[in-house]
Amino acid sequence: MTHFAFHLDATDTETAARAGRWETPHGVVDTPAFMPVGTLATVKGLLPEQLKATGAQMVLSNTYHLALRPGSDIVKEMGGLHKFMDWEGPILTDSGGFQVFSLAGLRKLTDEKAVFRSHIDGSLLELSPEKAVKIQEDLGADCIMCLDECPPANDVPEKIKAAVDRTTLWAKRCRDAQVRDDQALFGIVQGGISEEMRTRSAEGLVPLGFPGYAVGGLSVGEAPVDMYRTLDFTVPHLPVEKPRYLMGVGRPEDILEAVYRGIDLFDCVLPTRNGRNAMAFTSDGPVRLRNAVHQRDERPLDPECDCTACTRYSRAYLRHLFIAKEMLGGILLSLHNIAFYQKLVRDLRNAVNSGTVAQFRANQLARWQAQS
Ligand code: GUN
Ligand code: ZN
Repeated sequence: MTHFAFHLDATDTETAARAGRWETPHGVVDTPAFMPVGTLATVKGLLPEQLKATGAQMVLSNTYHLALRPGSDIVKEMGGLHKFMDWEGPILTDSGGFQVFSLAGLRKLTDEKAVFRSHIDGSLLELSPEKAVKIQEDLGADCIMCLDECPPANDVPEKIKAAVDRTTLWAKRCRDAQVRDDQALFGIVQGGISEEMRTRSAEGLVPLGFPGYAVGGLSVGEAPVDMYRTLDFTVPHLPVEKPRYLMGVGRPEDILEAVYRGIDLFDCVLPTRNGRNAMAFTSDGPVRLRNAVHQRDERPLDPECDCTACTRYSRAYLRHLFIAKEMLGGILLSLHNIAFYQKLVRDLRNAVNSGTVAQFRANQLARWQAQS
């Protein structure tokens, strides 16, 4: 396996935060990094060049959704995911393990495989570890994920333990099924919010020698403090020299707390989903643009942001677009929110490199909380 060097430029002395560079076959990712979500091979509403202009270096897409529509065979025939969606940078595909959680009513799990009933037309999709790897090899992302079982936060201890053991079993099968050597396959740590189970999961996966590790099974209904505590006792079990990815997280404050605890990579639907729903993240906390207070507001959404929404338009105009149900509203706010997340990780990288992470975290939390 070539192409996947991970270099740490700085590790904070006060916290577990690090800043680095991850080399992939489609380019470098500066870490900590935030990956916008393009579930269906599109970050909703945005052209690749607009996405790139926000500073985003890597995007995420999804095995389950692309296997159903249009089909991984079609993506492969069209030249792979990069060409199909015309994104030249690095791509990560998730395995379908999260749909085990989010589509719980539509699937049946055994040690052999997960069988989904399509949320689109009711047809069956079987996802074994081998099939999840095959689909991800056909899609052709730079980084692919093991099939895992993501249990809900409130599951009983026996179920959490069974999910950990199944996830370890499946990780071995994924590793053995891998044919291509130009994709980094990550293991996913599960275990709910139990220190014993997270340790068990990490100790099962780390000896398998993956080129990177994800922490899954968080932001699935537990309190934020439980997520932070889980990171406190999970991250130290992961190899220092490999990238660490916290899946599906989160709010800006969650990203801050997770970088503080040693996480390098993130993805979340929040900036795009909230953007489509007229909610903007700003330097002074969240802003709801449907609110009547913005009706005659000439100010930019966020004066500290250099995105198109903030440099060319007023809050009054953005509000008007949402009230009139114009599609540009969702596009501009998605663009802004992604730019906001990119600025956050850029500021975090600079803070790590200058040894000021703890101070940066305290300042940001105070500022975001002042308004909301
Ligand atoms: N996305 C968010 N959480 C998870 C998880 O636990 N597993 C997978 N595969 N994807 C996720
Ligand atoms: Zn902006």
